[in-house]
Amino acid sequence: MTTTESVTSRNPYLEGFLAPVRDEVTATDLEVTGHLPEHLDGRYLRNGPNPAAEVDPATYHWFTGDGMVHGIALRDGQARWYRNRWVRGPAVSATLGEPAPGRVDPRAGMLGMGANTNVLSHAGRTLALVEGGVANYELTDELDTVGTCDFDGTLAGGYTAHPHRDPRTGELHAVSYSFARGRTVQYSVIDANGRARRTVDISVSGSPMMHDFSLTDKYVVIYDLPVTFDPVQVMPASVPRWMRLPARLVVESVIGRVRMPSPVAAMLSRDTRRAVGLPYAWNPDYPARIGVMPREGGNRDVRWFDIEPCYVYHPLNAYSEMRDGAEILVLDVVRYSRMFDRDRRGPGDTMPVLDRWTINLATGAVQTECRDDRSQEFPRINESLTGAQHRFGYTVGIGGGFHAAGGTNASSALYKHDYATGSSEVAALDPDLLLGEMCFVPNPPRGEGTAAEDDGVLMGYGYHRGRDEGQLVLLDAQTLESMATVHLPQRVPMGFHGNWAPTV
Ligand SMILES: [Fe+2]
Repeated sequence: MTTTESVTSRNPYLEGFLAPVRDEVTATDLEVTGHLPEHLDGRYLRNGPNPAAEVDPATYHWFTGDGMVHGIALRDGQARWYRNRWVRGPAVSATLGEPAPGRVDPRAGMLGMGANTNVLSHAGRTLALVEGGVANYELTDELDTVGTCDFDGTLAGGYTAHPHRDPRTGELHAVSYSFARGRTVQYSVIDANGRARRTVDISVSGSPMMHDFSLTDKYVVIYDLPVTFDPVQVMPASVPRWMRLPARLVVESVIGRVRMPSPVAAMLSRDTRRAVGLPYAWNPDYPARIGVMPREGGNRDVRWFDIEPCYVYHPLNAYSEMRDGAEILVLDVVRYSRMFDRDRRGPGDTMPVLDRWTINLATGAVQTECRDDRSQEFPRINESLTGAQHRFGYTVGIGGGFHAAGGTNASSALYKHDYATGSSEVAALDPDLLLGEMCFVPNPPRGEGTAAEDDGVLMGYGYHRGRDEGQLVLLDAQTLESMATVHLPQRVPMGFHGNWAPTV
């Protein structure tokens, strides 16, 4: 192999902390260091990309890998089991030599890719989530795939990886996007019984990648930013080379501009796993805007505010407050100044930083401020405060960005941001420990009065390089000291998002 070949055949999103695992493992009664709080009765679940079939490192995109959920059940101060399971859509089932799951309905979304981005429990169901019009899947408590989920037929065409649960009602609010939706995105509310009770189609300027949104007590806030659908990349591989230019012109005139019947979208997405990269790219011609809609409003009620071009995957939280008689919307977000511009295999163009944006809803003035320029992602809060004013936020420091997580110099950190003081703390972690997202699990109430906002546990998977070991890491959210480490029988690759699913 020549030097050139060895360079082009490597992909940082397939190496080191990001490298996929090959086996599905079940292990019981796991070794624990430290003390697991007895009140934790449930499962910690986390999803992430883990290709089941061989992929081409030259073209593999981190976001397109088949979904694999890693789960661990805690009860009575013990780690009772660990399981990792691929989310079985038709393609993964075929790769594994298995029949497809019993319930596969294209009305739930496109079936060419698996659900690889988030996993949570809602209305008694465990749901593996993804975005972009791709189907969600329902899993059993033990992570076997049941089939596609369209919320009992109430929400077609895909959902999102980032719903936000209203802490007051238990409902899931979301904004969904898909190139098959034309120039619209869809706001939806899934009720506490797991069915859509309200949807609103919101007009946007094109076909943006809208990974997440913000929910406040009063508003739905959408980030309409210049990463947009690139139709060339979904052209079926079966189109002959001589047909590709005319086919491209036809595709470009239709996709992302008009609403598309689901069978057409399904056909176009069929070869997504084998396509070159992700069909979304930086678009310097697309206007960067924030949309603000009252929760019970409609498309005509959306107010738009221009901002400098950038990309946001994850807001930390948002809320509104009155200052000097004016309503101010506060948006804490992780911002990238570019996305999928030169690095088309993952989020490697620029480093993610922590910003605070404020919008004066009386004057329309927008202010943006970088609060922390260290590279960081995966913001979480105590989600009993979703949509209300928070004091604390937790992020994971990603030394050198995600693409560096595959290298031997990878490093990570856990930051606790205090918005009351403007300061931040850094957890004193073992330097051999690399962390993924850490979610906040509140402690049970102790006696009378309101619990402190940071009275809880930070929980997530890590990889200990020295031991070559996957770990579930629990930190005290008040002190950032280690509470417990559960030692897992295999490495858990850095994935995307996870949540605590309490036993009900
Ligand atoms: Fe995300």
